[in-house]
Amino acid sequence: MKAAYLVNNGRVNRAFEIRDLSIQDPQPHEVQISVQAFGLNFADVMARLGLYPDAPKKPGILGYDVVGTILDIGSEVRSELSIGDYVVALTRFGGYGQLVNTDYRAAVKISSDIPVDVATAFATQGGTAYYMAREMVNIFPGDHVLVHAAAGGVGSLSVQMAKSAGATVYGTASTSAKLDYITSIGVDHPINYKEHQFADVIRKILGKDIGLDIIFDPIGGMSVRRGYRLLGAGGRIVLCGASSLTSAKYIWSKLGVVKGFGLFSPIALLNPSKSLIGVNMLRIADDKPEVLQRVIRGAVDMYEDGVIQPLGGGIYSISELAVAHQALEKRKTMGKLAVKW
Ligand SMILES: NC(=O)c1ccc[n+]([C@@H]2O[C@H](COP(=O)([O-])OP(=O)(O)OC[C@H]3O[C@@H](n4cnc5c(N)ncnc54)[C@H](OP(=O)(O)O)[C@@H]3O)[C@@H](O)[C@H]2O)c1
Repeated sequence: MKAAYLVNNGRVNRAFEIRDLSIQDPQPHEVQISVQAFGLNFADVMARLGLYPDAPKKPGILGYDVVGTILDIGSEVRSELSIGDYVVALTRFGGYGQLVNTDYRAAVKISSDIPVDVATAFATQGGTAYYMAREMVNIFPGDHVLVHAAAGGVGSLSVQMAKSAGATVYGTASTSAKLDYITSIGVDHPINYKEHQFADVIRKILGKDIGLDIIFDPIGGMSVRRGYRLLGAGGRIVLCGASSLTSAKYIWSKLGVVKGFGLFSPIALLNPSKSLIGVNMLRIADDKPEVLQRVIRGAVDMYEDGVIQPLGGGIYSISELAVAHQALEKRKTMGKLAVKW
């Protein structure tokens, strides 16, 4: 058995090596999966660049989501899962291997007919979008919802979930092809945030007296501070990432991103009735694995009911891992990328 190990931080062509993999039997609450394909996540890029504190030590195996077949089941697994089932699963790293063990509550049965780039999106992107849009906030008809990086994996699903709840959706993306895509999935106000300051565009549309109800923000830095000013009473920012850190090359520019978030005191949130919500699915996976099962199942159900359609961004072979990583880092991708063994 083999795995793609992260051996060097930084440039992609020196980052990964295929090495032998040896793996233990599954723990009592784990299942062992023979991996057909694994998904790529923006956090993998951050880990490769050395910007992700939770990443495994080198040489280590990245990877948050896989599709494949259950090979073995731990003694305390209590679920409908059986050996031979085809599943999508969230993995707390280890996904870039041909075999991986994961908590049984992170695996959900799916049809093997679904293309692997679409299917891997159910775990990290689907689970995260569902947790944010269905569990961290309630979206009501008529709400004004802003989704940043709306053409991305998490973003495009957040758009579809907000739309299905009856919201007016504002979405940001960086190219005209991405704007066309987000318009096609229901964004009412697509904004190219390379060309326009998103906050100015939205303020113009909303006028002085109305504010945004919800913002889904994986960008971080100034984007949060600007978004906060756009919120109306009762408005919430759900913060799930800090992609802007990856474009900050030097320590001083990284500090600039951190400073850009702004300083928020609870009392300052109280008076205008605004909220900031932080989401980290790894912490949820550690502390509440049953929530993981609920949100991945929720995303799969939404797909089966025709509410969401994850965008497959491409299926790469393992020899093209570096190409896929580079495309994700350089913002060339739309939707979810998967790598097949
Ligand atoms: N907290 C959690 O538990 C959790 C879970 C999953 C994902 N996330 C976060 O959610 C975000 C989206 O993840 P994803 O895997 O679905 O990736 P993705 O959105 O498919 O890809 C990242 C996109 O972010 C946008 N972006 C904005 N600023 C960027 C920058 N400075 N550098 C690179 N890209 C930038 C780009 O879209 P444009 O070209 O349109 O700007 C890019 O295509 C990431 O920040 C990720 O870390 C968090």
